Amino acid sequence: MNKSLLRQESSHYFIEDVKLTDIAQKFGTPAYVYSKKHILDQINFLQNALSDIDHLICFAVKANSNLSILKLFKECGCGFDIVSGGELQRVLTVDSLNSKIVFSGVGKSVSEIEMALNNNILAFNVESEEELFRINDISQRLSKIAKVSIRVNPNVDAKTHPYISTGLKDNKFGIDETSAIKLYKKAAKLDHIKITGIDCHIGSQLTDLSPFEDAFIKLASLIDELESNQIAVEHIDIGGGIGISYNNEDISPIDFYVQMIKKYLLKYNKKIILEPGRFLIGKAGLMLTNVEYIKKSEHKNFVLVDAAMNDLMRPSLYNAFHEVINLSNTQDSNDIFDIVGPICETGDFLAKDRNIKANQGDILAIMDAGAYGFSMSSNYNSRPRVPEIIVDKDEFYLIRERENFSDLIAHEEKFLK
Ligand code: LLP
Repeated sequence: MNKSLLRQESSHYFIEDVKLTDIAQKFGTPAYVYSKKHILDQINFLQNALSDIDHLICFAVKANSNLSILKLFKECGCGFDIVSGGELQRVLTVDSLNSKIVFSGVGKSVSEIEMALNNNILAFNVESEEELFRINDISQRLSKIAKVSIRVNPNVDAKTHPYISTGLKDNKFGIDETSAIKLYKKAAKLDHIKITGIDCHIGSQLTDLSPFEDAFIKLASLIDELESNQIAVEHIDIGGGIGISYNNEDISPIDFYVQMIKKYLLKYNKKIILEPGRFLIGKAGLMLTNVEYIKKSEHKNFVLVDAAMNDLMRPSLYNAFHEVINLSNTQDSNDIFDIVGPICETGDFLAKDRNIKANQGDILAIMDAGAYGFSMSSNYNSRPRVPEIIVDKDEFYLIRERENFSDLIAHEEKFLK
């Protein structure tokens, strides 16, 4: 069992001091639930581990972009890693004067760049030559100076799921090392660009953190080469990617990661920017779902629940494992079930081949869903998106309400003829 988030007392499960079934009763299911304490503990843990390094943690907004969650990160002194105009506006909604935003992503549009420049973000993580020139042009038009890092693609294997590996030369992200140096030289000549950093993000959900070592070595040699060309950076952005354990995987200790930062990057005396998402919030959240039916056949058994792939896409998309706990019945079963939703696709599953005893009306917790859970959810099959709830000691409250049918048709109804 995931011991860090849930506490079991007799036959009840608690997050902090709140019984999970009370939340299901009050707000219904499916629903996402987060622990405020768990999030704060993760931030503190990382900040402490980095305490003798000049650093800035920029939370990767894509992992969980709920405004109340972003506000929590802001209050802890974090900056933000954004990848769209929408994410920028979310951050500005909770922190209008935020100057700690780094903007990543391969396809920044003109309007997104304008918005970012007008809000004086900390850095654009530039991913192509064309993007650099586009930023320079816009920044000239707006009479601004854009602060940029070049995102280097170090061609290292992050040993993670291919869909979330980003640092290989075949991936669409970043710029290879040789071209990066050339681009820095071009950037140095542009009037409306100020080079402030170097950036790298090799992938997500790294359980073995050793691929960072290769990336840091390559970053270090690039910084040396830049310095020999009189190009100085103020910060080194090492991206996100620290993995969490979903299925008892061994995770390299954070100390190992910190030691690598110290070994390869500290000598440059620059600020180290990190862009963690999953590590800070992945294990702080779960999704509650109700058992609708038990369907058994000779070949296969199913627990049919009210949550589906539109609510939590990770199992369908990456075959990702999420532990499932029956909060209403803790007994073991001799039967093996797939836990599936009501969507009309065979790929609509939340878990496969689980030993679980469940009855109609039981409440299940789909664990470790705090990152890339709600933020990747959709309205597929005209399913309203589910509420998000935060637990704070013995209290719990909504931070996003359940959508309703009016929300689903809000942008269509007026076009009915
Ligand atoms: N920085 C950049 C530039 C990124 O692209 C990402 C994630 C992060 C930081 C944060 O990575 P993290 O620390 O969370 O690993 N939907 C997938 C994950 C996609 C990650 C995309 N980029 C999943 O559910 O596993």
